[in-house]
Amino acid sequence: MSILITGGAGYIGSHTCVELLESGYDIVVLDNYVNSCPEALERVKKITGKDFKYYECDIRDKEGLDKIFKENTVEAVIHFAGLKAVGESCQKPLEYYDNNIGGTISLLEVMRENGCKTIVFSSSATVYGEENKVPFVETMKTGTTTNPYGTTKLYIENILQDIYKADNEWRVVLLRYFNPVGAHESGLIGEAPSFPNNLMPYISQVAIGKRECVNVFGDCYDTPDGTGVRDYIHVVDLAKGHVKAIDYILKNKGVEIFNLGTGHGISVIELIKAFSKATGIDIPYKITEPRSGDVAYSYANAEKAYKVLGWKAERDVNQMCADAWRWQKNNPNGYKD
Ligand code: NAD
Ligand code: UFG
Repeated sequence: MSILITGGAGYIGSHTCVELLESGYDIVVLDNYVNSCPEALERVKKITGKDFKYYECDIRDKEGLDKIFKENTVEAVIHFAGLKAVGESCQKPLEYYDNNIGGTISLLEVMRENGCKTIVFSSSATVYGEENKVPFVETMKTGTTTNPYGTTKLYIENILQDIYKADNEWRVVLLRYFNPVGAHESGLIGEAPSFPNNLMPYISQVAIGKRECVNVFGDCYDTPDGTGVRDYIHVVDLAKGHVKAIDYILKNKGVEIFNLGTGHGISVIELIKAFSKATGIDIPYKITEPRSGDVAYSYANAEKAYKVLGWKAERDVNQMCADAWRWQKNNPNGYKD
């Protein structure tokens, strides 16, 4: 019996593969490598010393998916595959809806045809929208999304809730991630964006000398230092949350939603300073215009995951920065090195 990981060569997927293998699960991975490469999976093998099969496959390719289900005994799916760039989603909404929503529907159809009805889905804190107040709690009504990427997460959450209502043999976990950062402590796997849209990869690229300084998007928010506050979570803690979610959903039916965050927010300037402190590298920054669609605060109430799954984030911001830097320093060009 295996856990099928869609998008397993990506940033969060590759770290989750490591934690699943180290917890004794067998895995099978699929990815179309639109934002990753097979080298990440070879490194997962190197870290764990364990072997597994991986397939080049697009989640919209039902025949390809069916072949994977026929060649393996898939007990549950962890579904990471998707496009995730907020800005790009505003330029290419159809591509995002097709890939993320169309792809998820095709995956769910093939799962059902093959009698596999257990899924853990990568959702996002973005579904809380602008209306809700921090800390975000799973019971809050979801909010209004500000971009097509966020809308795909919200719709997929709704689709998964609806399929359970229609057929309560489904077992569904919706994991709402806050801001994943950092890398595996081996320095072998990490985040490798061609252009850094998110704060931590940008800071790392300034540290390595690829960019001059960090542009801080606005200091006019109603926060202690005026810059945006987020709940940064170490990607290894996040990956461990998936193992707990799989342990849980293999034993329980229904739909459950969990926030995966630390429960604490820190500002843009605090993260830049924490990075300098952890690495000894000065990070120049300048204040620029706010980025459209950004909110002042986003952080989790992380109590439910602790109570129900027995999971909580353990790695602090110092470790997030040190591990992000080790990965960047050892792999200045990502997996191309
Ligand atoms: P990533 O881009 O590194 O990983 C996604 C993987 O999915 C990539 O390897 C990509 O090649 C693959 N993929 C994309 N479309 C595919 C398709 N049609 N068929 C097969 N494979 C496909 O991103 P990540 O940061 O690891 O994110 C994983 C998931 O978590 C995504 O669904 C993302 O939206 C979600 N998420 C990420 C964050 C974050 O800040 N990183 C926050 C909230 C939610
Ligand atoms: N920021 C900067 N400069 C940068 C990049 C970001 O100042 O170069 C600021 C942003 O304004 C924000 C904070 O740093 O205040 C964090 O921004 P990120 O882009 O790193 O992350 P977001 O909180 O905007 O978004 C992330 C993911 C989304 C996801 C969301 C909630 O990118 O996919 O977390 O989970 F939806």
